[in-house]
Amino acid sequence: MQTLTDPIGRSFKVLRVSLLDRCNFACTYCVCEDGITSAIPKPVVLSSDELIDLIGRLHDVLHLQTIRLTGGEPLLYPDLPKLITGIRQLGIHDIKMTTNGFLLAKKVTSLQEAGLRSINVSLDALSETSFFRVTKRAGVKQVIEGIIAAKKIGLEVKINTVIMAGENDKEILPLLDFAFRHGIKIRFLELMAMGHLFGDTDSKFFSRQAMLERISSVYAIDEQAKKYGDTATYWNTACDHSFGIIANESHPFCADCNRLRLDAQGNIYGCLSSNTPIPLREISSQKGLETSLYAALGQKQMQFSGSEISMLTIGG
Ligand code: GTP
Ligand code: 5AD
Ligand code: SF4
Repeated sequence: MQTLTDPIGRSFKVLRVSLLDRCNFACTYCVCEDGITSAIPKPVVLSSDELIDLIGRLHDVLHLQTIRLTGGEPLLYPDLPKLITGIRQLGIHDIKMTTNGFLLAKKVTSLQEAGLRSINVSLDALSETSFFRVTKRAGVKQVIEGIIAAKKIGLEVKINTVIMAGENDKEILPLLDFAFRHGIKIRFLELMAMGHLFGDTDSKFFSRQAMLERISSVYAIDEQAKKYGDTATYWNTACDHSFGIIANESHPFCADCNRLRLDAQGNIYGCLSSNTPIPLREISSQKGLETSLYAALGQKQMQFSGSEISMLTIGG
């Protein structure tokens, strides 16, 4: 099969794999007020053997470059080193993870030994009070320990910070300072209309423009050219640091999106904005797989429009 591309050249080179739709945090931008997710987690968790087999079949068709493990919280998946080793043995070497970092410090060495190369850690505040307000859990100390442990053993580490007006926007400058001091790249994220926030982000929305105004009140900044396929745009500061912003709502990057998502139930989605899972687990023929992948490619949009499916389910 030829490389699968749509009329504007978008393809699938990055597969994001949600390992389970459960989490040990309850971030307010992801999970409903009462801690019950808008999508009820189902009991199916694909075994590492089943996942390796599915990823291998997708790789045969798509010649994937990158696998990003997500969730829910991927560090809750029981068989992680075995899964990472199995993915590497398929010939995919760019293996990354997005995590809340709470369990990172004690697991990071075994993950690196298995072949993990890069890790994005969500950190929405440095103060325990703001951290709790956003995640509904205590644990900022553990997350910071995880970030520092990952950096120390040589993994590429980035911080993701979702900014919500009145909740943690005061954390922008302290977090920037923390990232600069530790030589870690930080990206600030606009709030996205996903799951229970679908159609209801306005009151907490803090725009890329507002983030830039806050940062440029302290640092002289200069925008970098955006890299093809990157979620973030980056800025340099006059003091030789850089930071990024992922502005899905005000500056969508859909035109160069190269991602495919596999959820923890074995469904694929060609777009984060999709509301329609495409089941893959029962499909055994190559033809059937290709048909599903074409359907997934057809889900890609030109403008991020949110989804009723939560990030917890579709995989951050
Ligand atoms: P890098 O490879 O390190 O740049 O990671 P990433 O930014 O692709 O992945 P990460 O898991 O850190 O995702 C951070 C944010 O990027 C998500 O919360 C989304 O806001 C955004 N994002 C990731 N994938 C997609 C996608 O397919 N579509 C859209 N619209 N946004 C995405
Ligand atoms: N808006 C913006 N970012 C979100 N994330 C989860 N839900 C949302 C949302 N509604 C972020 C997490 C993590 C990344 C994968 O997605 O903080 O960093
Ligand atoms: Fe968990 Fe990530 Fe959702 Fe927070 S955003 S509840 S850490 S899956």
